[in-house]
Amino acid sequence: MRKIIIAGNWKMYMTQAQSLEFLQVFKSEIEERVGTREIVLCAPFTALGLLSKTLHGGIIRLGAQNIHWESEGPYTGEISGPMLKEIGVNYVIVGHSERRQYFGESDQTANMRLRAAQKYGLTPILCVGESKAQRDAGDAEEVIINQLKSDLPGVNQQDLVIAYEPIWAIGTGETCAATEANRVIKLIRSQLYNPDVTIQYGGSVKPDNIDEIMQQNEIDGALVGGASLDPLTFARIVNYLA
Ligand code: 13P
Repeated sequence: MRKIIIAGNWKMYMTQAQSLEFLQVFKSEIEERVGTREIVLCAPFTALGLLSKTLHGGIIRLGAQNIHWESEGPYTGEISGPMLKEIGVNYVIVGHSERRQYFGESDQTANMRLRAAQKYGLTPILCVGESKAQRDAGDAEEVIINQLKSDLPGVNQQDLVIAYEPIWAIGTGETCAATEANRVIKLIRSQLYNPDVTIQYGGSVKPDNIDEIMQQNEIDGALVGGASLDPLTFARIVNYLA
């Protein structure tokens, strides 16, 4: 059985105070229909400790947005698995295109971060996806297959989430058609030895497209950026109509 996971990626937004305000509204808007769907908030490091205390025992789980491959060391600005685990974090995003584009993340470092996450008891959410130029050149499939080939060696697929995030659809309002996302996610699944890996779609997910996205048979959830910052908007997304 594939798990459904709806995750918000807050990126570099949300102070502690804003996170608490968000939670107050968001929690009261989650409907019973959510059932076994898992809800994850991938918050900035500074908000994780407070959120963990506030969410303790509830249905919302916590994710971080980065993890270093060592358990500790002289790596200014980085964060380690044991540090995240200690405060109750369950998931960590790895290889997001913004990390690849602005912070020199490569497939090699993504692979090291994935394996570190699993080593320290966190479930990684690996992001893959093609740029506009790659799609226009007809290279989308090859790019994604190569990312998976480089990112996944040594990674346990029993404890993994993958997000298909076409770069051209991130923060642009331009969504990948649900049927096209479904097709690419099917291709991603065909590359895995565990067909039960949860594979999300990410890229301009909004209340007005989530229902259609979640109706696709290969899509097991969403990784939501901008629309996860507003509690009512994100609540509508997690309450999607199946
Ligand atoms: P948007 O939902 O803002 O397009 O961002 C998607 C994303 O990058 C999630 O990780």
